[in-house]
Amino acid sequence: MLNKRIEQALNNQLKLEAFSSQYYLSIASWAENNGLNGTAEFFYQQSDEERMHMLRVLKFINERGGVGIIPQLDKPKDSFESITSVFNDFLKHEMEVTASVNEVVAICLEEKDHATNNFMQWFVSEQIEEEALVRTLIDKLTLIGEEKSGLYFFDRDLVSMKANDVTINNTL
Ligand code: FEO
Repeated sequence: MLNKRIEQALNNQLKLEAFSSQYYLSIASWAENNGLNGTAEFFYQQSDEERMHMLRVLKFINERGGVGIIPQLDKPKDSFESITSVFNDFLKHEMEVTASVNEVVAICLEEKDHATNNFMQWFVSEQIEEEALVRTLIDKLTLIGEEKSGLYFFDRDLVSMKANDVTINNTL
């Protein structure tokens, strides 16, 4: 049975994952409307992943005797300066998610809730992978700079870079 403090922390995490899904959907839609089809596909996939994260937390709360709350969400940003600013914001957002995951883990340790701590370790690993992927992509964008053909190939190859990342992660 979840104690109330843990239940609240997990519901906060659920809300952040739900917001992440909407945020990345907003980026995908912006990219699609600006001729960045690879970036759009990348963020549509990312949005789906965040929805799965949200569901994972929701089901855990309910299975452990708590009540998962479907939250009202703020409207995400819907216009972006450039592909580089999109990826910088993406990293910033994922670092906030990581801080939130760490906070839930810290509360689990204080409350001696080892089951929830164990559940949260999947998110700890996931955040390491997500941040590493975004940093790699930002490094590539830094190398490309403002060069149009470089940005064209970056956009075109984004989905396969994500697929390769998933393949590498699944074989670990
Ligand atoms: Fe589920 Fe990207 O945080």
